[in-house]
Amino acid sequence: RPPPSDVLFATLEKAAAFYRSELMNTARGKDYFKSRGLTGETAATFALGYAPDAWDSVLKLLGGSDAERSRLLQVGLIIERDNRSGHYDRFRDRVMFPIRDARGRTIGFGGRVLDKGEPKYMNSPETELFHKGRELYGLYEARQASRTLSRLLIVEGYMDVVRLHQAGITYAVATLGTATTPEHLARVFRICNEVTFCFDGDRAGRAAAWKALENSLSQVREGRQIRFLFLPEGHDPDTLVGEEGREAFEARIKQAMPLSEYFINHLSAQVDTHSIDGRARLGEMARPLLERIPAGIFRELLAEEVAKTVGLKRDRLTSMLGEGAEKAA
Ligand code: GTP
Ligand code: MN
Ligand code: MN
Ligand code: MN
Ligand code: MN
Repeated sequence: RPPPSDVLFATLEKAAAFYRSELMNTARGKDYFKSRGLTGETAATFALGYAPDAWDSVLKLLGGSDAERSRLLQVGLIIERDNRSGHYDRFRDRVMFPIRDARGRTIGFGGRVLDKGEPKYMNSPETELFHKGRELYGLYEARQASRTLSRLLIVEGYMDVVRLHQAGITYAVATLGTATTPEHLARVFRICNEVTFCFDGDRAGRAAAWKALENSLSQVREGRQIRFLFLPEGHDPDTLVGEEGREAFEARIKQAMPLSEYFINHLSAQVDTHSIDGRARLGEMARPLLERIPAGIFRELLAEEVAKTVGLKRDRLTSMLGEGAEKAA
């Protein structure tokens, strides 16, 4: 008997194959992806699929016995009815994005509605195989495209990853509808030293960028490059790369804002740096953030920059930092 997780992986693989064949064999899903500018090749690379508009297609295909239904439940593909009188498919009439682990095994799905409808995206629930705070959509495909990943672009959405990949920017990955977690970042920096965050050009995207900065501070090291690419209002990587193409988009990546610059700009924008109150507040906001950065030259230089901005002598500000800073100073 194979260990239980192997059986679960097999169940997910069968479901992915089913969604995939449904995409090939029905116009609805195919037309949707076409309307979003995707080619058949891209659909194949990401094993995109379509979940038909029915309550029981996966249930019928893969849930013939109690044991099989229990597996479908465990991987989140079916849901138990309220009155416990049976089950129904979780994903119905959605285009499907299989989420794969580093070895290429399907561990869950994201499904998007084709028309208006809520929720726009539905993800598999957390299961023993699928942990949202850890997984990065597109990482497996990025690795397939280039064995030696030297940089990563972190974006918000499935379509962003897929559309960028199609345009030749194959090093984009997305978090799965969650904020970037410290766990994500630790993982990202185990893979490469050059990371650019590129969230949507909207309020949520900018909030996500600052959150990513906060969570990146502990990852700052010599030789690591952390940058932020801000998109024009109303754009996301999908729409922008579709409009302007690979070269223009990669030029934006090259010119993305270093963490240090974003750090100072963002904090300065929240206060009136012409008043003592404002500058004091800036110093107070900066201090706990600076403390998250491992002691070293980068922290010293950034602290110096903050000191300059608030008009404090640098040693007064650094002496406000914790133990590590004093040692490094
Ligand atoms: P498109 O409209 O297909 O281009 O999607 P998008 O990725 O641009 O959507 P958006 O910017 O609104 O959201 C970014 C990401 O957040 C999506 O790719 C999803 O992973 C996630 N997300 C968006 N809407 C929902 C939702 O209603 N529920 C959940 N769980 N996640 C969502
Ligand atoms: Mn958005
Ligand atoms: Mn978006
Ligand atoms: Mn989009
Ligand atoms: Mn002023």
